[in-house]
Order: sequence, then C-alpha cells, then structure tokens
Amino acid sequence: MFEPLLDRHRRPLRDLRISVTDRCNFRCTYCMPRDVFGPNYAFMDRRELLTFEEITRLAAVFRGLGIEKVRLTGGEPTLRRDLDRLVRMLAGLPGLDLTLTTNGSTLEGLAEPLASAGLKRVTVSLDSLDDAVFAKMNDANFPVARVLAGIEAAAKAGLRPIKVNCVVNRRINLGGVLDLARQFRGTPHVMRFIEFMDVGTTNGWRMDDVVPSRELIALIGKEWPIEPVEAGYPGEVAARWRYRDGSGEIGFISSVTQPFCRACNRARLSADGRLFTCLFGVQGHDLRGPLRAGASDAALADVIREAWRRRDDRYSELRSAETAGLPKIEMSFIGG
Ligand code: GTP
Ligand code: 5AD
Ligand code: SF4
Ligand code: SF4
Repeated sequence: MFEPLLDRHRRPLRDLRISVTDRCNFRCTYCMPRDVFGPNYAFMDRRELLTFEEITRLAAVFRGLGIEKVRLTGGEPTLRRDLDRLVRMLAGLPGLDLTLTTNGSTLEGLAEPLASAGLKRVTVSLDSLDDAVFAKMNDANFPVARVLAGIEAAAKAGLRPIKVNCVVNRRINLGGVLDLARQFRGTPHVMRFIEFMDVGTTNGWRMDDVVPSRELIALIGKEWPIEPVEAGYPGEVAARWRYRDGSGEIGFISSVTQPFCRACNRARLSADGRLFTCLFGVQGHDLRGPLRAGASDAALADVIREAWRRRDDRYSELRSAETAGLPKIEMSFIGG
C-alpha cells in the first residue's frame, strides 16, 4: 500500500515506538538505577510532554510514511493518566498493530480497559519469579504475584500473544532463568531473554554481566530440547525458538553478541516529541517545535522523511570499548 521510506542502508521505516512519559515506578538496575534516578532527579515537566492529540497527529503522519506498528513505552506507559484515551485515539488509525510494553504493575486493572479501547497485545517485563531477586533487579516494592496477575488479566482480556521480557544479568538473575522458562512453558505466552545492553550512561554496564544468548539456549535446551523457528516479520529483534515437545515458544534478544542493525526498521518518538532513529541516539530531531508552531502534516512528514533518509545508525554493530562511554540517550527516556 505504501512506498516504503528507506534510509541510507535501504532499511524501511516500519515500526514506531512512542514514549508517553519518562517516569517509572520501578528502578531497574539496567535502566533507571536508584542512585542516579533518586528523589532529586529532574523528570520532565508536564508541559514538555506531547498531548494525546499531538501524539495521535504525529502517529498519523508516520502511518502515512509506511509504519505498520506502534508500541507505547515509557518510562512506564501506564503511569500516564488516561492512557486508554490515547489508545482509543490511536486505534482509530486503520491497519496498525497497536501494542504496549509495561512492567505489569498496574496491568491487572488496566488490561480490560486498554483492550476495550483497542490495544491489540502487550509485552510485560519480568526478570525473576523470586521476590527477593525481583526486588534486587527492579527495586520494586511489591510481589511478583502482582505481575503474574497482570499477565493473567491481559490474557483474559484477549491481549494475545503476550510476550514476557527478562533482561539477564549474570550476577543477579541468571539463576532464575529456568524457573521463568518453566513458568510459561505450555502456555501461549512467549518468554524472551534479553542480553543486558549498554543503553544510556548510568546503568554501570559491564560485558562481564552480559549472558550471551547462546549460553542460555544451551542451558534451556539441556532441560527441554528446543529448535529455531523462522522470524515472524522482517527485522524482528527476537530470535524465535520452540520446545520440541510442542510446549510453545521462547525467544532470545541478542543485541550485544548478535546485533541486528542491518534490519533495523525502528523509529522512536520521545515523550517530549523528539524523533530518534536509534536506541543509542544522542540528540534526536525536534518534531514538537514545528508541530506547536503550526506546521502542516506535509511539512511534518518532510522533517521525518529527511531524518530517516539521512539515517546511518548501527550502534550495536559498532559497539566497542570506545562506544560504550559515548554520550547516549537514557533508556527510560526513549523507552527501549
Ligand atoms: P515485538 O513487536 O513483539 O516483536 O516486540 P519487540 O521485541 O520489538 O519490543 P520490546 O519492547 O519487547 O523490546 C524487546 C527488547 O529488545 C528490549 O530490551 C528492547 O530494548 C530491545 N530492542 C527493541 N528494539 C531494539 C532496537 O532497535 N535496537 C536494539 N539494540 N535493541 C532493541
Ligand atoms: N538492556 C536490555 N534491555 C533493557 N530494557 C530496559 N533496559 C535494558 C537494558 N539496559 C528492556 C526492558 C523492557 C524493554 C522495553 O527494554 O526490560 O522489557
Ligand atoms: Fe521502568 Fe521499564 Fe525502565 Fe524498569 S525497564 S525502570 S520498568 S521503564
Ligand atoms: Fe537499530 Fe540502533 Fe538498535 Fe542498531 S543499535 S538495531 S540501529 S536501534
């Protein structure tokens, strides 16, 4: 239907991740460590945030440029008040896969209203089934049971397939990987293990803490034999695997040891309306300025088109001891 918009490496723009807030009620070690994001941390002022009308208008412009999927992220997207209203507005754009990544803390109550508003599916972060390890990894002060109840509620509301994301850190939660796999084996939910990335500049990333996916594949495969499955769509970040005994699917996201920049088709819109063409971007392209100055849809599309055409990003492929220390946007700001 659309002529795809290509960047310098002929990668099409297909996927838009929209951050709706820079706040979070968790302090995950790998994303917003509490010693940096403490009581004195200056989060964005409300007026900085794009309104729902502004977000929807930009999403429509992106849709016109060929995107097929919108994922709402944060910070924690469910902290944005009346999120269901935004979902209803975005669901009015025809033909979009509309999804959300959340820490699950309020999903039990929100799943039904979000599904009714037109959300199609959710991805829930869950790094451990053990309350103590969960608390250490995520610095969240409630039990894992609450996240599990959120996943249940999402399934009941028809937000399927549910994907569950676990960032693995060798020193903290590697010991719980098999328990997580077991929990979702035999369900339609897809457990995915993610290599800890050096996003932002504050998460104290060290290669020693990264557990390469091939190690996890061996660990899980020894317990329950698994085999690879074809990608679900071009540019899918997770490598899909399935249990040979028919107990469902799992996935591995290996952006450190097997970068996937070659097929990267993602743009990110920050909560204050900047377009980032890479998760590891620094500056971003301001869209809020022109939007609030009265730019037409065509003019906004031109800004996006120009930014995408010039795009040369492939951070994960270039990652090295030198790139690890460069200035980068924080994960909590750009939403993964
Ligand atoms: P699906 O639409 O279900 O395929 O979701 P997804 O896997 O694209 O999204 P999700 O938000 O669950 O992201 C999973 C993990 O992959 C997170 O750790 C993201 O930070 C990481 N990730 C997603 N997109 C990119 C990317 O373009 N580059 C890198 N390096 N990591 C990414
Ligand atoms: N490395 C890998 N994944 C991360 N996420 C957040 N920070 C990191 C990191 N440093 C994941 C979250 C969530 C997704 C959007 O991004 O766990 O599932
Ligand atoms: Fe919050 Fe998600 Fe970042 Fe954890 S990874 S601090 S839940 S935004
Ligand atoms: Fe895309 Fe940047 Fe991630 Fe590479 S590092 S896959 S270019 S977002």
